[in-house]
Parts: sequence; structure tokens; C-alpha cells
Amino acid sequence: MPLALDQRFPRRVLGFWPSPLQRLPRLSEFLGLEIWAKRDDVSSGLAFGGNKIRKLEWLAADALAQGCDTLVSIGNIQSNHTRQVAAAAAALGLRCRLVQEEWTRWDDPVYDKVGNILLSRLMGAETLLEGKGYSTAEKETWRRALDLVRRDGGKPYAIPAGASDHPLGGLGYAHFADELAAQEQAHGLFFDTVVTATCTGSTQAGMVVGFAAQARKRRLIGIDTAANAAMTRAAVTRIAHATAALIGLNRDIRDDEIEIDPRFAGPGYGLPDEATIAAIRTGARLEAMLTDPVYEGKSLAGLIAMAKAGEIPSGARVLYVHLGGAPVLSAYHKAFA
Ligand SMILES: Cc1ncc(COP(=O)(O)O)c(C=O)c1O
Repeated sequence: MPLALDQRFPRRVLGFWPSPLQRLPRLSEFLGLEIWAKRDDVSSGLAFGGNKIRKLEWLAADALAQGCDTLVSIGNIQSNHTRQVAAAAAALGLRCRLVQEEWTRWDDPVYDKVGNILLSRLMGAETLLEGKGYSTAEKETWRRALDLVRRDGGKPYAIPAGASDHPLGGLGYAHFADELAAQEQAHGLFFDTVVTATCTGSTQAGMVVGFAAQARKRRLIGIDTAANAAMTRAAVTRIAHATAALIGLNRDIRDDEIEIDPRFAGPGYGLPDEATIAAIRTGARLEAMLTDPVYEGKSLAGLIAMAKAGEIPSGARVLYVHLGGAPVLSAYHKAFA
């Protein structure tokens, strides 16, 4: 039974849905597996889109219903998430204040000037370069940014990192499960294995809940990109339980439904290793599918390594969920020198 969340929760559509489902013939041949991609990276006209557009639709409706005038959020200096918050704010006619923390040491003088942060500034967002270190814990920088909006007489809408630890954060990717099931039915196929990047948690958590509501079971593999799989697991678990309760899922989420693979995260958040860079080149050369050194290059590296090692059986039909991130590439030009 579909969850039909769009009939139960207010949603402000910001993307082109369903996002494309695309067969990847050359990557399939290379890996000896049937591989498709769900292209959430090209699912919106809002500043290159990405997975946050899908999540923000539910938060945007809430922000407008509450009469908020400023979206406030937080992320890395090169956050895709904050760029998408800036895009949503621009499209909705709201103001936007972004805390851009240093979650990774990437030694390049253009790191805080090109890529995502350039786009956020272009769209009119105010970018505050302060704070350090990735953590799902609430940050002082973030509280200050909210206070500043109030002090200036505005009404902020608080969107945590990745739009994840928010009561509505899991709805987008729970709804994704319905969207995927409808596409599967239309194509007459079923994906028994789904691969996704995971970090702040609500993408994977939403999918866990959405898939839990479906009759046919699949394996959902979350590739950790935070380089802290314990923190990622805690976030995914917390958000999955909260989302299941919110939507009234009629059963508990089991621990074994949350699979998080720590092996492909590289040396740290935002830092690629050789496998990440090789995977980015593979995706680009075989399919002209652009992935990035922070997230999707890591999940693609995981898919490639698991396929080559036989950890995904050769008869599997695999869905690689592409969550965006390519706008960061110019900030990482040195990784490809
Ligand atoms: C391109 C991309 N892929 C994957 C992720 C991970 O999603 P989540 O933070 O919901 O776990 C993010 C955001 O953090 C992202 O921007």
C-alpha cells in the first residue's frame, strides 16, 4: 500500500517528479551487474537541485504556514544542503541566512569562493563563515544565527544540517519509496538492492521507513560519508524511528534494516581517497554521470568495490540513488590534477 504522504502532510513542490530512473548500460557491463540510477541530482530546476530539494518540500510548506520570513541553516563551507536552502528561499521569496562551518580542511584558497557557496551567494543568501567540525549535535553558531534574525525583527525557520534532525526531515525519502514503487510497476521491474550515500541521516532513514511499508523486501546499503559510522548510524536510527512514528507506520523499525558501510568514507568528512577519485572518473567516463568527492563519489566507490568483490550477487538488480553534489567539483579541482 502506498504511504500517500502527499495527501496527509502539506508539501510545497520544488522539483520535477518523479525523478528520472535511468539504466546505466556501460557501468552495468563494467561491473557485470544490472545497475540503474535514480537521478535525484537532476530532479529540480532550483540551482542544480539534489536530495535536499526532496526533503525541503515538506519543511517549506511548514515554514510558509508558520509565516516565517527567513530560512536559517547550517553546513560545511561547500555544503550542497545550504545551497539548496538558499535556492528554496529564493524561489519562495524568503530571506536566507547560512552558517558555513569548516567541517573539513581542504587547502585551497578558492574553497570558500567557488562551487556551492558561490551559488548560494548568487541567490542572495547571507553566508556566515564561522564554526568548525562536523557533528550532528546542535551548534552555538547555529543558535546565534537564529537569534540574529529575531534581533533584526525577522521570523526564522530553523533547518538543521541536511534538513535531517527536524520533525519533517524524513518525509521526503519516505515518499521517495512510493515514487520508486510506481516507477518499478511502470517498468515491470524490482530493485532488490539499493545503494545510497548517508551522512546527516534523513535520506537513508526516510527510505528505511518507506521501504518498511512495502510488501517486498530489499537490501538498502548506506555508504557512510561522515567518516563516523557510529554517529551516522545513531542519526539514521533516531530519524527512522521518529519518521515511523510521525507517519503511523504499523510496525517497529528493526536494527537490521539499517545497514551502514563504513569502508568507503575516506580519511574524513569531505576528504576523498583514491577509490573516491577513481569512482568519480569511472562514472564520468562510462556514463557522463558526474559525482563528487564528498558524497556520491564515495557511494559510487562503495558500489564498485562491493560489485567487484561479489558482495552484491551477480543476479541482483541494483539501484544507485544519485543525490546530487556535482556543483562542488570546481572547489575540488586539485583532487583531479
Ligand atoms: C550530494 C549528497 N549526497 C548525500 C548526502 C547525504 O544525505 P543525508 O545528509 O541525508 O544523509 C548529502 C547531504 O548530506 C549530499 O549533499
